[in-house]
Amino acid sequence: MRAVERAGLALLRRIDAETAHGLALRALRAGAVPMPGLVTSPRLRTSVAGLALANPIGLAAGFDKNAVALHGLGRAGFGFLEVGAVTPRPQPGNPRPRLFRLPEAQAVINRFGFNNDGMEAVAARLAERPRDTVIGLNLGANKDSADRAGDFARVLAHCGRWLDFATINVSSPNTERLRDLQGPEALAALVAGVLEARDALARPVPVFLKIAPDLSGAELADIAAVARAAGVDGIVATNTTVSRISVSGPVAEETGGLSGRPLFERSTTVLAQLSRLTDGEMPLIGVGGVASARDAYDKIRAGASAVQLYTALAYRGLSLVEDIARGLDDILARAGFANVAEAVGTGRDDWL
Ligand code: FNR
Repeated sequence: MRAVERAGLALLRRIDAETAHGLALRALRAGAVPMPGLVTSPRLRTSVAGLALANPIGLAAGFDKNAVALHGLGRAGFGFLEVGAVTPRPQPGNPRPRLFRLPEAQAVINRFGFNNDGMEAVAARLAERPRDTVIGLNLGANKDSADRAGDFARVLAHCGRWLDFATINVSSPNTERLRDLQGPEALAALVAGVLEARDALARPVPVFLKIAPDLSGAELADIAAVARAAGVDGIVATNTTVSRISVSGPVAEETGGLSGRPLFERSTTVLAQLSRLTDGEMPLIGVGGVASARDAYDKIRAGASAVQLYTALAYRGLSLVEDIARGLDDILARAGFANVAEAVGTGRDDWL
């Protein structure tokens, strides 16, 4: 971490977490943050569901919900970005405060509830997107929608022409009853609607499904079966957890989803289970608690073709992205892997 970044993070840590995040996004938009640009190598270059990635380290959904900092983030060293969640209509989300730090645990709890500017405003920003970055959109549903399942397809139909991929997010814990859409019948219908919207695009994009870490083995098996039968292009595992692992104190009692280091084990176990359930044939994106090159490597060996992160960036700054990508390159080389794809799933059984 650079000294200027350390000083900036120390300042941001002294103010309310959501305000601090807003300031960080503003600095990014203003180009006030030094950026490495493209971080790649023959070993890091990889392909996920047909997407050519410069490296397998992605930005997880929720960091740039409204696609306001695409140009800055595009130069931060990520191999791909996921923005959103975006719903058809703008909505304010839950009342503040709704983002809480747990610094000892390197974790946060959030209950934002899909606050976003809506698909029209976000599509206008996506239209101005950088072309040399892989960008996907996390699809959400309005809290008060009469047809939540249909909302996901509506957002994709509206924004799809500007995207490289889209992710169906039925796993946020912060919209009441949203996760019910992970049940097999509801999920099959919802996915069919989204894939129909995707097929109608002039340039159809891969569609991923993002799941919760709090599912039972049987629920996970149902989801894997639905995803495969429907022709989903990949699964993102996982979203935040409603459980409270390795955290305590008053902040740990706040309602919302827990992310960061305490989520690593749980989300990686779910990833490995999914890899086995899909016979290693479905591209998986591993997310939850990634804070180092070793974490990214472990997720890849558990079955992920690529990884994403969010919470660690709040504690370590954006320079972490380049550190992880370069560190991963070294680890792969030392382990004798010629590229990322060779390492995928090679340590899956350690997690089962
Ligand atoms: C999130 N996450 C999230 N996920 C999603 O699919 N749609 C969203 O809108 C959001 N919003 C969001 C806001 C905040 C403040 C956080 C911390 C997280 C979940 C995120 O993409 C990721 O799945 C988890 O945070 C786990 O990864 P990390 O944070 O442990 O690296």
